[in-house]
Order: sequence, then C-alpha cells, then structure tokens
Amino acid sequence: MNFRHACKEFNPTQKISDEDFKIILEAGRLSPSSFGMEPWKFLVLQNVDLREKIRPFCWGAQKQLPTASHFVVLLARAGKDMRSDSEYIRETMAELHKSPPEVVAARREKLEDFQKNDFKLQDERALFDWACRQTYIALGNMMTVAAFLGIDSCPVEGFNRERVEEILAAEGALDRKHFGIACMAAFGYRIAAPKPKLRRGLEEVSQII
Ligand SMILES: Cc1cc2nc3c(=O)[nH]c(=O)nc-3n(C[C@H](O)[C@H](O)[C@H](O)COP(=O)(O)O)c2cc1C
Repeated sequence: MNFRHACKEFNPTQKISDEDFKIILEAGRLSPSSFGMEPWKFLVLQNVDLREKIRPFCWGAQKQLPTASHFVVLLARAGKDMRSDSEYIRETMAELHKSPPEVVAARREKLEDFQKNDFKLQDERALFDWACRQTYIALGNMMTVAAFLGIDSCPVEGFNRERVEEILAAEGALDRKHFGIACMAAFGYRIAAPKPKLRRGLEEVSQII
C-alpha cells in the first residue's frame, strides 16, 4: 500500500506485459458486487488518437493520458439496467447464476425492497451512483493488484463526464443506453519518485468499540 501512489506521469517507453495487464483486469472482473450484478465494463483505451481526443476534457489526467502504458475507463451500468425489474438483472440471475424461476422471482423481490426501502435508490441517477460505487471496488482491487506486480497507477475522477461520454459514444466505444463512465485509471511505470505519503494517523481514522 505504500508502493501505490497516484502516479502523475509514467515512463512512456515502459509497457506492461499482456500477462500482467490480464491479471489487473482479472482483479476487476473478480471483484465483489452487490447481489453479484457485476455492474461494470472495463474499456481499455489503447488508441493514441482517442486518448488525445478525450484529453481536453480530462483535467485530472493531462500527463497520465499520453504516458500511461494502459488507460482504463471504468464504465458502470445505467440506472435503468440496475432496477430490480430490468432485463439485465433478470438475465444475470437466470442465465449467469442459473437460478430457477422461483429463486429469480424471490431475489428480484428482495432487491426491489432493498433498493426502495433500505437504501432508497429512488431514481435512475441514484441507481447509477450505486453501480458506480461498486465499480470503485473493482478500481481499488485493480490498483492494489497492480502495486503487488510493481506496476504504478493513478485513479482519475478529474474529467467532464458528459463530454467524454459523448466522444466515446461517437466512436462506438460506449453505449450510453446501458453504461455511463464511473471513473478512470491509468497504469504504467513511474518516471519519477513519488512524494512522501500524507495520511491521518490510524488512531484517528479507526475506532474499536
Ligand atoms: C476517486 C479518486 C479520484 C481521483 N482523481 C484523480 C485525478 O483525476 N487526477 C489525479 O492526478 N489524481 C487523482 N486521484 C488521486 C488522489 O489525489 C490521491 O490518491 C490522493 O491525493 C492521495 O495520494 P496517494 O494516492 O499518492 O497516496 C484520485 C483519487 C481517487 C481515489
């Protein structure tokens, strides 16, 4: 955890091997998600022109975009796909999890109750944000696994969601009916030593009761 830092600029000549990058993607794929709905997709932007196209709208990735070995846009499922009565939820439970119809019905009812009453995920925006929160777990796991492999990373929220989504949709890389951008992550190898870590003490951020 001390090795990992928000790397601002990468060595542009040093590339992550296919084998290592697959391990990073697998860390995302195998991440936990609420009700096992896997509300994400990892879009790996290796096209240099496309990286340059989105760069004016990514203030938080100015140096990372042109230098990262791999740049991932983490997509989260649209709110309407996350609703308990959506086709995506049904298909995941019935086809992927191979649950029999009565189990699918019961789980969808439980999910509906959770969304309405426990977490009050009342509109599509709240449901999309719920999908984004889960996508951040995948983000964290990908960065931690990368660090174990000696690979640097930077999480990125510094971008204009609307503008970047428009560009990716125009390129056919994003279906806005089913996905929105949750966050981004750059991966590669540092070009300079990181600054010392600034953190509050463990006794301040944790409490045993
Ligand atoms: C959700 C999230 C979004 C972030 N967005 C950016 C960003 O757009 N650009 C950037 O350079 N760093 C970004 N960071 C990095 C943080 O600034 C950094 O993690 C924090 O200052 C602590 O530093 P450290 O990670 O190097 O220990 C982001 C971090 C998180 C968790």
